[in-house]
Formats: sequence, structure tokens, C-alpha cells
Amino acid sequence: MKNPRRGFLSSVAGGAAAIPYFAWAPRTLGDETKAKNDRVALGLIGAGGIAHANIGAAKDWVDLVAIADVDAGRREAFNEKHAGGKAAVYDDYRRILERNDVDVIHVATPDHWHTKPVVEAMLAGKDVYCEKPLTLTIDEGKLIRKIQKQTGRIVQVGTQQRSTFPLFATAMALVAEGRVGRIRQVQAAIGAAPSSPALPVAQVPKGLDWDRWQGPVPLADYRFLQGPATKDKDGKEKLPQANTNGHYEFRWWYEYSGGKLTDWGAHHVDIAMWALALNGQTAGPTAIGGTAVHPVTFEDGVPLQHDRYNTATEFFFNVDFPGGTKLFIRNDTDNGVLIEGNKGRIFVSRGKLAGEPVDQLKDNPLPEGALAKVYKNLPMQENERKAHWANFLWCAKNNKEPISDVHSHMKMLTICHLAGISARLGRSLKWDDSTEQIVGDEQANAMLARPYRKGYEIEM
Ligand SMILES: NC(=O)c1ccc[n+]([C@@H]2O[C@H](COP(=O)([O-])OP(=O)(O)OC[C@H]3O[C@@H](n4cnc5c(N)ncnc54)[C@H](O)[C@@H]3O)[C@@H](O)[C@H]2O)c1
Repeated sequence: MKNPRRGFLSSVAGGAAAIPYFAWAPRTLGDETKAKNDRVALGLIGAGGIAHANIGAAKDWVDLVAIADVDAGRREAFNEKHAGGKAAVYDDYRRILERNDVDVIHVATPDHWHTKPVVEAMLAGKDVYCEKPLTLTIDEGKLIRKIQKQTGRIVQVGTQQRSTFPLFATAMALVAEGRVGRIRQVQAAIGAAPSSPALPVAQVPKGLDWDRWQGPVPLADYRFLQGPATKDKDGKEKLPQANTNGHYEFRWWYEYSGGKLTDWGAHHVDIAMWALALNGQTAGPTAIGGTAVHPVTFEDGVPLQHDRYNTATEFFFNVDFPGGTKLFIRNDTDNGVLIEGNKGRIFVSRGKLAGEPVDQLKDNPLPEGALAKVYKNLPMQENERKAHWANFLWCAKNNKEPISDVHSHMKMLTICHLAGISARLGRSLKWDDSTEQIVGDEQANAMLARPYRKGYEIEM
């Protein structure tokens, strides 16, 4: 049974009916939720880089009451910075899930540590904002969808481009209003990924619980290499980002992530698939193939060298949909999403919205309510990260599906994961969207899931 929802954000006006087209200012969700008793008690799991931005964005509405991180230095510093040292800190996030005074959970751990706390948080009666990409495998997505349905909890994924006004929202409204016509192809350009030199086994930094950091993944040595110091423009020495298989750089290891294909793929493939859905093309893919360059050799989908980054550095994938629509995922052109229909094409990125249908807006503006419609008639905010949090908290309060829901997210993340499987095996794959299985390729199908290390199984 659902926990009764607490009375937070209760003064927010009820949905888009009360918030006219593009009317985020001057009345914002933040202004309306200053009352102390409206605040939401939040438990954070993973106090790393993005958590700083997220808690900063949510701070008008949430009280950070508990922080879990497997790095003692990080959890203490986070507590000082964002909770004045007053939050409870833990090595094991499960202590947060046991607390009845925590309303919502933010999961901002590395990708291999998303599914387990998300599932357990939902089962503990919490609503969850989890960073993208929601899962490390396709089958983990099936589980999250199942538990979300079973518990009815609200889960927002951290694909904040969905809450970006006006750029992405206007692009989506143009699509929804038929200004590009029927979409024939979409392109998600997501940039190249780095490689690294061989990284030596290194001493685990003091305070980092490396066993728990790896959690469900087979144990590996900690690796670290500090690059040479360089000078900044004022002549001051600065250390470049270190190469490691730990903090931040986990992105470039298939053990912990999907590389660029899921890191940025989760953002731009999401926009591409959102556009297709708004265009009435909701079917999943039928096939995916292409080329990928890896910094290491693979055999049977497994990297043969274990001392350096192993995810694809360059790639070009071609995804087929019923009816002949195509999606391209590539690294080699301007970062952004290109949407091409039979009436026109638009390009949208974090800094640009261009194309003839955009130019035509001055003579033929979007109808009133067009943005609100693509935003599922939910309240809007100017800053995208704040907007995404506002969206989550409002949906948690009002028991609505948020803008980055688990279903649309897994539909598109499945494509990113399939690209990763195809890259590692070096062959094209056929996909049956109704059974969510790869067709006629047992080896590839085995990569839809991953084993969990003993002691780190999902607790259900
Ligand atoms: N939405 C966005 O634009 C965006 C931007 C950056 C990162 N992200 C996502 O956020 C996630 C985190 O990325 P990051 O760059 O902040 O990484 P990070 O390495 O800086 O932070 C991750 C933190 O999680 C901690 N951690 C690991 N295992 C844990 C566990 N079991 N319990 C508690 N804490 C644990 C680590 O010690 C680290 O402090 C990734 O999934 C990434 O894709 C999203």
C-alpha cells in the first residue's frame, strides 16, 4: 500500500490549467513553497559531482536530512556544504531507506549502482529522482518498470533536457504541431569519448569503501593515474582530471556504465525518441547496426585488457523502426538532435534551435498552450535543473507521472544499451519490441542482464 503522501508543495496551483503558456515568471514553484511546513525531507544516495548541482537546484523545496556515500570525505564535505553539517551521514544507503522521516530519495551514484537502490527505495515507500541513465542493462529496466507499477511510486529520471524551456520544449512543440511533418529520420550526435593510457593499480584513497563502491559488479583493483600538472592562464599550476576506474571516470568502463552511448545517449536519444512519440511514431526499433571503435580488444563481448578505459570512443549506429523511419547515433558531428520530416527539419541542442520551422515562428507562432501540451500540462520553470526538480516534487505531491518517466526512459535507453551490445559484439542486432528480446542471437540476449555479486543482490 502507498504511504500517505506528506503535505508538501501543497500551495502549488493545480497544474497547467492554473499556469498559462510559458508563465514561469514571476510566480515560480519556489516562491510558493517557502513555508517551512511545505518542505520535503530528502535522502541523498551518492554525494558526487552531479549531486551538488541537483541539491543546489532543489534546495528551495527540500531539506537534506540524510546523505549516503561510500566515500567518507565526500559525504562529510557534502553535509557541510548543503546541510550545514546537520544531516545524518551513512556509508550504507539502506540506513536511509529505513527512516520513516525521509520523503523522497535522490540517487546520484554511478550507473552500476542505480537499479538496486531505486528498486529498494520504491519498496520502502519512497518516491525517487534517479540520475540518468536509469540502468546498466535492459533487464534492469524491466524490473524497475515492474516495481514502479506494483508500488505506484513516482520516479523521475535525471534527463533534465525534457524540462528545458524554451529550446527543447519549443522543438518538441514544433514537432507536435506538425511543423516538420512526418519524421523520416532523427539524428542524435553525442560526441566522442576519451581513451586512457594503461592505469596502474593504486592504493584505494583513504575513506573510500572500494568494495561497496563496486557493489554488484565483480571486484576489480582500484586504478588511478594523475596526469602531469599544467599551468592555467595566470601561470598557476593545475592538475588535469585524473584517469581512474573510480569517481566520475567510471563512465568510460563497461563494467560500470555504457560509455558515451548511455552517458550522452540518455540525453539526446531521449529527445529523438520523444520527438518520434509526439509525431505518433511510438513503435520500438526493429534492428540496430553500425560501427564502433574501442580502445581495447573485445572477445565475445568482453574486453581483453582490464587496465584502461574500454567504452567506444567513436561510433555510428543506424537504428531501424517500422515504416522505414531511421535514427542515427553518432559521435562525429555537432552535438545535438537533428529532426527531419517531410515538411522541414530542425536542429536542437543545449545552445541552439534552428531550421526553417523555427524561422517561421515569427510569422506563425505556436498556438497558446503548445509548450504546456508537450510538457504534459505540468507546471513549468525557467532553469532546467530546477524545473526538473519542481516537476518531480509536484508529481510526487499530486501522484502524477513525471516528465521523465521510467517507461519513455527505458524505451530510449534500451536503444542505447542495444548499441552498446552491438558495439561490443561487433555485429548488427534484430530486436523484437513486443517480447523485448534480441532475435536469434543467444550470446547477445545474455547481455540483456548482468549477474549481481554476492552480498549486493537487490533486496525484494
Ligand atoms: N543529468 C545530467 O546532466 C548528469 C550530469 C552528470 C552526471 N549524471 C549522472 O549522475 C551519476 C553520478 O555521476 P557523477 O558525475 O556525479 O559521479 P561521481 O563519481 O562524481 O559521484 C558518484 C558518487 O556516488 C558515490 N557512490 C558510489 N557507490 C555508492 C553507494 N553504493 N552508495 C552511496 N554512494 C555511492 C561515489 O562515492 C561518488 O561520490 C551518473 O549516473 C551520471 O551519469 C547526470
